[in-house]
Amino acid sequence: MIPSAPPDLVTPQLRNLVTAILNTPKYRHISPELLHRIGRDELKKRPRHKEAVKGVKSKLHQIGGAYLDSNPKYGRLLTQLQASGDRPVACRSIMRQHSSTRERLPILDRFYSTVFADLPPIHSVLDIASGFNPLARAWMPLAPRASYTAYDIYGDMMPFLQAAMRLMVDEEDGANQTAVQQDIISRPPTKKAELALILKTLPVLAMVDETAVSRLLDTIQADYLLITFPVRSLGGRQKGMVQNYDRLFKNWMNGRGWSHKRYLFDGELAFLVKKDVLEVTVTGHTDSIYPKPHAP
Ligand SMILES: C[S@@+](CC[C@H](N)C(=O)[O-])C[C@H]1O[C@@H](n2cnc3c(N)ncnc32)[C@H](O)[C@@H]1O
Repeated sequence: MIPSAPPDLVTPQLRNLVTAILNTPKYRHISPELLHRIGRDELKKRPRHKEAVKGVKSKLHQIGGAYLDSNPKYGRLLTQLQASGDRPVACRSIMRQHSSTRERLPILDRFYSTVFADLPPIHSVLDIASGFNPLARAWMPLAPRASYTAYDIYGDMMPFLQAAMRLMVDEEDGANQTAVQQDIISRPPTKKAELALILKTLPVLAMVDETAVSRLLDTIQADYLLITFPVRSLGGRQKGMVQNYDRLFKNWMNGRGWSHKRYLFDGELAFLVKKDVLEVTVTGHTDSIYPKPHAP
């Protein structure tokens, strides 16, 4: 079992705060590990219980609650998927219930085919802070028998995603489709893979901990990272988001020596990053084997 926080760091105030949040219907399945982290930060700013509860709920809303329509009925959704004669239609319908995947539906047919055209065959995927994106697995032109590991903070969402993914692959590949509840700020995944999907996630992590993005980027053991940003706000406004996220991405890549390709889709700015840059030195001139930044 994973400890949610070292026992010596859990004060009675923090314990009360965490218990109060876990007793709310909306957040009872949230990762206790993440909750302790946010609770501890909040108590430093707002030591009074009532205000700290309000502050934690507001942060949880920003990083997770705002994306989920209501408390999804996962048992019912799985039955719907099992019973459906048309899985892609059923997956699309379920993806509508998480605003992040809902926003991607109009471009879904182009999104993965465009990016995967620039990749070698992919046999293993990490889906970091996945939301409902594993339901888009059928749109990804993966190599046969590819493994898929999804991470998010909701303890009730992950068994549903795992069961849903297993429905979409041959029986013998089922064990390679996993979905794990994990706070990727406290424990960035260390599992090796060829591709990590980090879709619309980095700004969310930075809201909790400014150092989380660098830690995640450095820890992740994948040859390629697909990093994306929403270029329309949840409310639908654009607000110069492309320039902002171009700048943020550049800052996060600064000094890492990784190469990337940029894509601008309707509603989503994407960067395919090659983490391991092999450099070829040709008489004093160093070049990357992967293309340097492209215009869209
Ligand atoms: C903007 S949504 C992106 C979802 C998905 N990647 C996509 O683009 O469709 C952000 C996701 O991050 C998850 N999340 C937030 N903080 C997290 C953390 N510390 N660890 C893991 N997942 C987290 C939320 O639950 C939510 O599903």
